Amino acid sequence: MASSTMFSVLLFASLVVAVSAAGNLNQNFDITWGDGRANILNNGELLTLTLDKTSGSGFQSKNEYLFGKIDMQIKLVQGNSAGTVTAYYLSSEGATHDEIDFEFLGNVTGQPYTLHTNVFTQGKGDREQQFRLWFDPTADFHTYSILWNPQRIVFSVDGTPIREFKNMESIGIPFPKNQAMRIYSSLWDAEDWATQGGRVKTDWAKAPFMASYRHFNADNACVSTNGRTTCNTASSWMNQQLDATSQSRLQWVQKNYMIYNYCVDIQRFPQGLPKECSVA
Ligand SMILES: *[C@@H]1O[C@H](CO)[C@@H](O)[C@H](O)[C@H]1NC(C)=O
Repeated sequence: MASSTMFSVLLFASLVVAVSAAGNLNQNFDITWGDGRANILNNGELLTLTLDKTSGSGFQSKNEYLFGKIDMQIKLVQGNSAGTVTAYYLSSEGATHDEIDFEFLGNVTGQPYTLHTNVFTQGKGDREQQFRLWFDPTADFHTYSILWNPQRIVFSVDGTPIREFKNMESIGIPFPKNQAMRIYSSLWDAEDWATQGGRVKTDWAKAPFMASYRHFNADNACVSTNGRTTCNTASSWMNQQLDATSQSRLQWVQKNYMIYNYCVDIQRFPQGLPKECSVA
């Protein structure tokens, strides 16, 4: 009796851990490249990626997520970060993969970063929206979040939604809902294109460049064990939508901070804008 009670307590505890993972970066991520340029410090409270002339570095989540509510605090490369790119994204694998991207393009000292976003569904991207931020993302940590549920993907910064990608399967646009994704991040050099179209090169005298991560928090709806997926659709975020306040903040960002929107780029799509762009 005692041992069976113990067993159910343990089972319950491990289920809770699988569904909601907070905090410890050691438990949630593996450093995947960079040969010592990436480090998890302070007992899993802080993760740093660095980039030098030889290489960048990166990490990925141990877990796969199928729908999720995922927050990470990031502090970007300070000073002259021109040419550097810090990518933070969710992706599944294969030719028809789904992907949800944040990419931070560095700049010369005092000039603003570009926050680049994209959504791939069934291997097709070309859905870029770019933003300025309303603060200096290198001065302190800020929270970058992805809410991904069956109806929508919402990108948020410090709790303010900046982009919403709705489920538009009803008009034939695929939506990510079958392929689990991992979280990836990397810091690398893209001086050929990242800053002002490649006109501003990376200043290697300032290397190593560093981006820092902390306060990871994630809820995962579905857990796969031995090829079998069980989903807990009861979490409130699984059908969360943007309330009126969030809608108006989203509009504030899109009006004042959006610097590129594929949905209005007529030159790029001479045959007509993508179908999803006509959805309000
Ligand atoms: C860097 O700053 C310049 C000047 O403000 C700006 O035009 C550019 O978009 C900024 N961002 C990047 C990634 O180059």
